[in-house]
Amino acid sequence: MLRKDFLWGGAIAAHQAEGAWDTDGKGVSCSDVETIGGNGIPRRLTDGIVPGEVYPNHEGIHFYEHYKEDIALFAEMGFKGFRTSIAWTRIFPNGDDDKPNEAGLQFYDRLFDECHKYGIEPIVTLSHFEMPYHLAKKYNGFTDRRCIDFFVRFARVCFERYQTKVKYWMTFNEINNQADVNQHNLIQEGAVILREGDDPEYIMYLSAHHELVASALAVKAAHEINPDLMVGCMIGMNGVYPATCDPQDVMNALGAMHQKYYFAEVHARGHYPKHILKKFERKGYPDFILPEDKEILEQGKVDYIAFSYYMSYASSHKRGNKDFDYTGEDFVRNTYLKASDWGWQIDPLGLRWCLSWFHDRFELPMMIVENGFGAYDKIGEDGVIDDQYRIDYLKEHIQALKDAVEYEGVDLLGYMMWSPIDIVSASTGEYDKRYGFIHVNRTNEGEGDFSRSKKKSFHWYKHVIETNGEEL
Ligand code: BG6
Repeated sequence: MLRKDFLWGGAIAAHQAEGAWDTDGKGVSCSDVETIGGNGIPRRLTDGIVPGEVYPNHEGIHFYEHYKEDIALFAEMGFKGFRTSIAWTRIFPNGDDDKPNEAGLQFYDRLFDECHKYGIEPIVTLSHFEMPYHLAKKYNGFTDRRCIDFFVRFARVCFERYQTKVKYWMTFNEINNQADVNQHNLIQEGAVILREGDDPEYIMYLSAHHELVASALAVKAAHEINPDLMVGCMIGMNGVYPATCDPQDVMNALGAMHQKYYFAEVHARGHYPKHILKKFERKGYPDFILPEDKEILEQGKVDYIAFSYYMSYASSHKRGNKDFDYTGEDFVRNTYLKASDWGWQIDPLGLRWCLSWFHDRFELPMMIVENGFGAYDKIGEDGVIDDQYRIDYLKEHIQALKDAVEYEGVDLLGYMMWSPIDIVSASTGEYDKRYGFIHVNRTNEGEGDFSRSKKKSFHWYKHVIETNGEEL
């Protein structure tokens, strides 16, 4: 049985939904300079905003104007919680400004008040792929320690302003995605632009370290401001299985888990695990972990683990070396699983495995803050989208989380499906990769008036919440 106050709800992010990219004093964010991509076509980072390019985050789904209508629809489904992010650039347009932008702060006052009107608890991410672009240009993002202070200033302003409206916070969304070192992940997570001659892997570890320190300082600040605030990390969790029971594959999967999830160890345990320090030593990296950083990490351990879950991976060993270092190139198709149209392998039991993995290590409360199915939806002749495939995906994943509570005894606070309303895809910039219970009339081609309508899954999720997950 799930707890009585289980937080059922859904999650979005500011940059994928709000639009209004330059309204009321908002500055340019890193996602504002990423173009639209496609299924199998990566987004491009441009040098500033280039006329003629298509930037889907400039429009989002017009949530900035439609939020009242959307929250009312979430309330109709019975949401107890709603996760979104605060666009850093609405509060500090450049990131290094002295004073916050009052108009930006007021928008989130209105949004959180609207949630409370229906008894919905806002759950907030501070940095969800939307760092100020100015920080990228002037400081190269989190490669520069000064960004630690900028982030903490932003976090403090938010904690002070919203402490009576928001209890659950997260610092950096999917901080560990950057373990797959590429330009898209580095700009989304740390506002980092790779330059010629850089060692991308070193740059990633350096920047991630500064984010981990910034996160720990934010946790500390939140507790000083109001001891009731709960601050979590946010991990993009997709468990890695060995492709076979060949011990080489098993070690290779362990190597991938080490590299992809050491971030969670630092957040929750307050120090780096030995395997990653050994790796830094092996690679001859200069020591960027200052003695005072160690103290900060120790003092800023998170209160709970939030994570997203979409799929699992299978890892196959190819090289015969002893370090079993993750390269991102060892993943193979898991023949036991089906995949979405974007190749994301569907694995409900993997969610139970991941919940256990966290629980066994950290014994902290957890919240699933993203889980959902991106699909091409078709509008039926009756004008309604029959998205049974989405219902099937969610049903099996909710069953798996219930089993993790029942059999492994995990402490689960809530489930925020991704995303209750169609929004812009983070990886591809598409509109046509849809996750919602609510359809938004907008396409990759920029057609449609942004009007909202309910899909079949809307009514299904309403019933799930009504029965606290007893009837799926
Ligand atoms: C997570 C992100 O990676 O997955 C979200 O936190 C993102 O921002 C979600 O939207 C789904 O990914 P995508 O690329 O299908 O939008």
